[in-house]
Amino acid sequence: MTFLFNSDAKRGATFAEAFARELPDIAFSMDPASVEPEAVRYLITWTVPDDLARYSNLEIVFSIGAGIDQFRIDAVPARVKVVRMVEDGIVRMMQEYATLAVLALHRDLPAYLDQQRRGIWQPIAPVQAAKRRIGVLGLGILGSAVLERLQPFGFPLSGWSRSPRAIGGVRCLSGGEGLNSLLATTDILVCLLPLTEETRGFLNPELFARLPAGAALVHVGRGAQLDHQALVDALNAGHLSGAVVDVTDPEPLPAGHAFWNHPQILLTPHIASVTQAETAAAAVIDNIKRHRAGLDPIGLIDRSRGY
Ligand code: NDP
Ligand code: OXD
Repeated sequence: MTFLFNSDAKRGATFAEAFARELPDIAFSMDPASVEPEAVRYLITWTVPDDLARYSNLEIVFSIGAGIDQFRIDAVPARVKVVRMVEDGIVRMMQEYATLAVLALHRDLPAYLDQQRRGIWQPIAPVQAAKRRIGVLGLGILGSAVLERLQPFGFPLSGWSRSPRAIGGVRCLSGGEGLNSLLATTDILVCLLPLTEETRGFLNPELFARLPAGAALVHVGRGAQLDHQALVDALNAGHLSGAVVDVTDPEPLPAGHAFWNHPQILLTPHIASVTQAETAAAAVIDNIKRHRAGLDPIGLIDRSRGY
């Protein structure tokens, strides 16, 4: 029985050590050319390989990342479970990044960076945290962890999900009415939705228009959720005040794209959160143990929902 690791060798070395220690009956390989295809029961990868059909006894395909939109799930036979990455390292990094981004916007960092470049020494009237309303789109593993990390600052916190959720200290909303209410009362909007057919192009002119004047955006979901021109237009019109953007479509952005030099946009190259080898190996091993015990792996994708 083989676990096939199809990602970078550095992370692979950490996985190999953990597998030798925790699951010694499973052969660990990083080389698709040298495995017996019939022996491969588990595969971890970022995208689904074209020759997936050769692994006729495959039981689980793990994504090396938290998002699953890059997977061609339809190419994975229905009998094979698809599992995304749910691990402490990704959660911690996303908490850090989202907190950094929210605080940067709350404390007018894009405006101060612009002033510094232009040689201007000019305080901006501060807004107290109690008056800065944060709204998070997506109350899953990452959205709820980010809200937990933001609690001590004293921001009024709201969140929105597909199905109703309950999180202490957070006004949890769902459905169309819930979205209306969240948008109307959000000063900093954080997008942590998965990319699905329903969320593609979600951050568009109509959505921005429903935010209060002066609101700001943190986009850490997926690039294809954001209408780039709509963001630039909303910023240039003064309706939005700033944005922190970590994900774009395409990645990287082409030279000359409006985001590179926009004074109200802080741009990072899809680094908000990255799978951490040690914690990811532990999570995958735990999931294989769960699977062998007849339990569903954590992060099992619901194919009908697409996430
Ligand atoms: P989860 O699957 O745990 O949570 C997704 C949340 O989004 C759930 O609350 C879900 O609702 C909600 N949701 C999904 N579709 C809709 C919809 N149509 N309307 C309303 N709510 C919806 O995902 P994670 O929190 O683990 O990850 C979220 C995303 O973050 C990933 O898919 C990935 O795209 C992105 N990501 C970005 C990274 C970066 O570095 N920038 C790193 C890692 C992840 P419900 O609770 O009802 O299911
Ligand atoms: C992920 C990512 O999905 O890096 O893990 O965006």
